[in-house]
Amino acid sequence: MAEKRDIWSSRTAFILATIGSAVGLGNVWRFPYIAYKYGGGAFLIPFFVAIFVAGIPLLILEYYLGQSTQKGAPEALSKIGKNWEILGWFAIFIGFIIVTYYSVIMGWAFSYIGKTFSIGKISNFETFFNNDFLHLSKGITTIGGINLPIFIGLVLTWISMILIIFKGAKSVGKVVMITVPLPFLILIAFALRGITLEGAANGLNLYLTPDFSALLKVDTWLAAFGQVFFSFSIGFGVMIAYASFKRKKSDIINNAFITGLTDGLTAFIAGFAVFSVLGYLALSKGLPVGDVVKSGPGLAFIVFPQIITKLPFAQFFFFLFFIMLLTLGIDSAFSLVEAFVTGISDKLKWAKVTIITIFSGIGFVMGIIYTTDGGMYWLDAVDYFFSTYGLVIVGLLEAVAIGWFYDTENARNYMNDVSDFKIGKWWNYMVKFVIPVVLIVLLAVNTVNLIKNGYGGYPRYILILTGPIFLILGVIFAIIMKSIKSSR
Ligand code: PFF
Repeated sequence: MAEKRDIWSSRTAFILATIGSAVGLGNVWRFPYIAYKYGGGAFLIPFFVAIFVAGIPLLILEYYLGQSTQKGAPEALSKIGKNWEILGWFAIFIGFIIVTYYSVIMGWAFSYIGKTFSIGKISNFETFFNNDFLHLSKGITTIGGINLPIFIGLVLTWISMILIIFKGAKSVGKVVMITVPLPFLILIAFALRGITLEGAANGLNLYLTPDFSALLKVDTWLAAFGQVFFSFSIGFGVMIAYASFKRKKSDIINNAFITGLTDGLTAFIAGFAVFSVLGYLALSKGLPVGDVVKSGPGLAFIVFPQIITKLPFAQFFFFLFFIMLLTLGIDSAFSLVEAFVTGISDKLKWAKVTIITIFSGIGFVMGIIYTTDGGMYWLDAVDYFFSTYGLVIVGLLEAVAIGWFYDTENARNYMNDVSDFKIGKWWNYMVKFVIPVVLIVLLAVNTVNLIKNGYGGYPRYILILTGPIFLILGVIFAIIMKSIKSSR
């Protein structure tokens, strides 16, 4: 039975929900470690360029697609041409794979909350995280056993997501009234404490001093675009689905700027907290800031607790921080779930309960690999291919779809009619030329480098599995979904 389509209760609800989806672990967990990995100041320029060149123009494009068609990604794209529906399903597949490990990071946070009363005993959060918490194995091929606390965290994450999402767009609107503003306040407080630590200035120098020589490195640029797509929640079908719950005559352009800029700013603030602690650690260890922590997906879990132990009421702040990570993550994670639920329910007209049960079950089971001793390596490898390659490919194809197979001027007129302020022709050029050219060049050059040098020192057969094979599976999934006859 087709269910009635939900509609946002207000504009604020929509904005908060899109900010809720965009601002998430990507800002506090992913942005800092990616920025650190690529050298701090060397990353910041590509990051801001990516926001304006692709992030905001594509966010506008996704809102347009969802709002004008009132459909989730696959059906919305099929209005451009039948085969474009495949792209929508592929985007949803990428989102689905990402949620399988995103939920594990949230599981880490759940599990860390359980450690609140023992933090006094931890002297080095890096060894604690890698050895005691993850039981990190010596390499990606040594998988080892499942870590029970992380596994339990994963179960709790999925339960919370499912409970929230069952209620649909209206309740999403309510949840985010709390989960969106709270994290800002906490992050600002942490950044302020961070920058007053001894040695912080060295960390901030690394973060804020532009490194122009690094601008020639293609992998940094690709990582920056990937990070912006991940952080803006574009290329997953999420923003298309959310915009499909809007009234046809509601603002697009201003909303996209509000969400995009808030998201970029949040990441930037989180960077202050993280890099100042890195400076502090560098001073205490007598190492250069760039070498102080082995950079990787664990960075936030190592660095933030370090600030927290410098605060009065450390246990309270420790608890608060990980609750914040969870509240940040939860609205992002369920927006991912919402994207494929919307896509599938638009097509198959299955009841939401059925779709959520089936796909959450599969997503949960797939996440178990990341709870093992070798899990963090797998997470890193899959994240690399999905967040970097996968998202950039979707962003590229969306721009091509609208730019070359649809009338951008028509889209722009529609948006200008309904929006608070208008965008100029620059948007057409971005979508038609700049985004496709930039992304194609980045993908091509990076692929050549990848074939030559590999990634992360992982064996090639694993990279082939987590990269090309997995992505091809996504294409197959997308083609199958497209070929199924919609039950109307
Ligand atoms: N944008 C979220 C973040 O930065 O944490 C992650 C995310 C959520 C990506 C939802 C994609 C998505 F659909």
